[in-house]
Amino acid sequence: MSELILGIESSCDETAAAIVESGHRVVSSEIHSQIAEHAVYGGVVPEIAGRSHLEKILPVVDAALDAAGLELDELAGIAVTNRPGLIGSLLVGLSAAKALAFVRGLPLIGVHHIEAHAYAATMELEEKPWPCLALVVSGGHTSLYIAHSALELVPIANTLDDAAGEAFDKVAWILGLGYPGGPEVSKLARDGDPDAIPFPRYRSKDGSIGFSFSGLKTAVLYHVRGGDALAPTPPPEEIAARADVAASFEAAVVDSLVSQTLKAARKHGLERILVAGGVACNHRLREVMRERASAEGCTAHFPDPEWCTDNAVMIAGLGWELFKAGAVSDLNLDASPR
Ligand code: KG4
Ligand code: ZN
Repeated sequence: MSELILGIESSCDETAAAIVESGHRVVSSEIHSQIAEHAVYGGVVPEIAGRSHLEKILPVVDAALDAAGLELDELAGIAVTNRPGLIGSLLVGLSAAKALAFVRGLPLIGVHHIEAHAYAATMELEEKPWPCLALVVSGGHTSLYIAHSALELVPIANTLDDAAGEAFDKVAWILGLGYPGGPEVSKLARDGDPDAIPFPRYRSKDGSIGFSFSGLKTAVLYHVRGGDALAPTPPPEEIAARADVAASFEAAVVDSLVSQTLKAARKHGLERILVAGGVACNHRLREVMRERASAEGCTAHFPDPEWCTDNAVMIAGLGWELFKAGAVSDLNLDASPR
């Protein structure tokens, strides 16, 4: 019996298709990034995203099949992101997956994008980590879960406002850096002092576990305006010690993510921590999470950086687990923004 799943991802600004065997062996992966199409606007424009997915979805699926040297008939099923994401973008991938599944009589598997990010952190593990914590940090989400299995994630904390990746993108904009901001801020931060500016770390009043980044973003804005909220934002070349601002901001985000996650690990008695999503590419987060987790007798697992940002490998991977569990959908499968 075939253990090959075709994964399709189109929830935001990447059109991706991949073929994965048995939930972990990557056979092929194709990603068309729309970054260049959105960069001038400093963020993802939903209408542009939908149109671009429409143009690229079939060529990207074809390329994934070609690279694998496979025909659709050799697959066990087709997995597709159907939630959450931009509705117009989700519908493109979902419609393509439905058409292919219908024409070839293949099982259709709807996949939750955030759960797939978390799954990516387990793909290379010989021994499964359940139960464990899963922190998903991306441009749209900052969520902490208790994962009882690949298919059973119970949310325990969320950001109250901005997602961590969104904060990176906004601070990049304040500092006059390009989009997406995470990699740019992180690059500049390497030349700066993470202790130079004591930017605030969110702590809830009642001591509960949670995340918030909008206060931090505002603190960065006020700092570059010389403490005067009403002053204009200076041009990038006039921002004093720009690398120190980037490094101190990055340190504040990382400290918040690590502190809250380890607090949850202590509270729930969990020793394994999955960290995934675009922000999990961040070097400082990878280093500090690993160090501080290990100091508390915990182990942090990250996906290969290639599978941290949006991709279809994670969709095909989790798709296989769902397929094995019999979680197959019919052609009424719907897309949902949440
Ligand atoms: O998972 P992803 O590709 O898309 C969403 O599902 O949102 O994550 C994209 C986000 C962007 O906000 C980007 O700035 C951030 O991940 N990101 C990073 C890094 N690489 C990407 N943030 C911090 N450091 C990085 N190295
Ligand atoms: Zn994502």
